[in-house]
Amino acid sequence: MTDAPLRSEFPTLEQTTYLNSCSLCALSQRVRGAVRTHLEAWETRGASAWYDTWLGVLDDTRERFADLIGAGVDEVALLANVSTAMNAIASGLTYEDRSRVVTTELDFPTVARTWQDRPAADLEILDSPDGIRVPAETIEDALDDDTAALATSHVFYATGAVQDIQRLSEAAADAGALSIVDAYQGTGQLGTDVDEVGCDVLVTGGLKWLLGGTGIAYLYVDRDTQRQLSPDMAGWFGDERPFAFDTTTFRPRQDARRFEMGTPSLPSVHAGNAGLAIVDELGPATICERQTELTTDLVDRLHDRGFSIETPLDAEERAGIVMVDVEDPESVVQRLAKRDIIVDHRPGRVRVSPYFYNTIDEIEQIAQALDQVTDLDDEPPT
Ligand SMILES: Cc1ncc(COP(=O)(O)O)c(C=O)c1O
Repeated sequence: MTDAPLRSEFPTLEQTTYLNSCSLCALSQRVRGAVRTHLEAWETRGASAWYDTWLGVLDDTRERFADLIGAGVDEVALLANVSTAMNAIASGLTYEDRSRVVTTELDFPTVARTWQDRPAADLEILDSPDGIRVPAETIEDALDDDTAALATSHVFYATGAVQDIQRLSEAAADAGALSIVDAYQGTGQLGTDVDEVGCDVLVTGGLKWLLGGTGIAYLYVDRDTQRQLSPDMAGWFGDERPFAFDTTTFRPRQDARRFEMGTPSLPSVHAGNAGLAIVDELGPATICERQTELTTDLVDRLHDRGFSIETPLDAEERAGIVMVDVEDPESVVQRLAKRDIIVDHRPGRVRVSPYFYNTIDEIEQIAQALDQVTDLDDEPPT
C-alpha cells in the first residue's frame, strides 16, 4: 500500500477522519492560501487588480482545466455550478426535429430538473434494475432518431458505479444525439481525456475531486457543438468585447466562453485553480490507483464484518464512493460524527468516500466504527 500523498496539505485530516470527499473535498492549505492572496489583493488594490491579475487567473484556471481533460482552452467555460452549466447547454437546443432527452434515475436530480420544465423537450428517465447501475445496453436501446441528447454521469453519485462514457458517447453520436456527461463525481479521481471519450459536452466542478470547493464549475463544449447550440441564457462575460460596454450589439464569443454569464466569484475561481494545481501535481492516474487501493480495502473490510455493499464489487466498475446498506443511515452518520468520523447518507445507505489523502488506518477506523454504531443498542439514541 502506498503512503497518503500530500496529507499534510490538508489540516482537516488532523481534526477528523474525513471520508466524505464526494460531497465536499477536504480544504488544503494551498486553496486557503490562494483565497487569502485574492482577499489581500482585493483589500490593497481593489478593482485595479482586475486587469493585470484577476482576468489572468480566470485564463489560467480555464487552461489548467483544459489541460487536465485534454481539451483546447477555447472549449472551456467557467460557471458557478453544474446546474447553471447544464441549463446553459439545454437552452441551446431547439427540440424541434428531435425532442427526446434521455437520462437515468441514478443521475443527480439536477440533470432531470434541467429538462423537466422545458415544454418542448420530452424527458425520459431510465430505470436502474438493481439500484446501483444502468446497463449500457439499456441506455443504447433508448437512443433513437428523435433523441436530442443523452445526459448522464461518469460516476453515479449515490452508488459509485462508473459508466463507460466512451461507449455511451459513441452510441449517442451514432443516434445523432448530443452526449452530455455529468462528470462531477469523476474528473480528478478518474482520468478524463475528452478526445478519447468523444463526448460533446462535459460538466464538472471544484466541490469534490477537483479540490476547489464551492462556486466553481467547469464546462467543456467541443468546437462543433459550440456552433450547433444557441443558448438563450447570455451575459456580458459571454460577449466578445465585454469591456466595450456596448448595449446595442451582443456578439457572442466564438468559443466556449459564450456560455459564461456575469462576474465570476473570484474567491471560488482562486480556490478552484489551486485545487486543480494539486490534482495536476499528483496526476489522475496516481490518484485513481490510490482510490482503487482504498476502496478495495474498505469493501474487503466491510465484507469481513458482514455488511452489505450497494456499490459495484468489481474494482474496475467503481470509484471512490462506497455505499453501505444500514438501518437508519441518518442516525448512523450522526453517531459516527460524534466520533469525529465524517461520512454522509443517501436514501437507505451510508456513503463512505475516501480520497488519496486518507490512510488505511482511517479505513479500518470507519469499518470498526460502523460495526459498533450499527449495533444501535450499544449507543444511547441521538
Ligand atoms: C454528479 C453530480 N451532479 C451535479 C451535482 C450538483 O451540482 P451543482 O450543485 O453544482 O449544481 C452534484 C452534487 O453533489 C453531483 O454529485
